[in-house]
Amino acid sequence: MYVCICKGITEKQVREAVTSRNSNNPKEILKALGVGTDCGTCVEDAVKTLIEQSARTPIEMKDTSNKS
Ligand code: FES
Repeated sequence: MYVCICKGITEKQVREAVTSRNSNNPKEILKALGVGTDCGTCVEDAVKTLIEQSARTPIEMKDTSNKS
């Protein structure tokens, strides 16, 4: 099912982006896919899909400390 008709992005692609990018940052993922960059009507549904998938996918916490 299409989430973003303007860009031809499916729900499956949004879910895969969450998993493959190991991120749950909606802004980052939607921007990378181009979702919401045209008419913008898809953003709410895309974010819902993204949040659902994030809840199912454990996200590894990156160690950003600067240990030396
Ligand atoms: S449906 Fe996604 S930008 Fe128009």
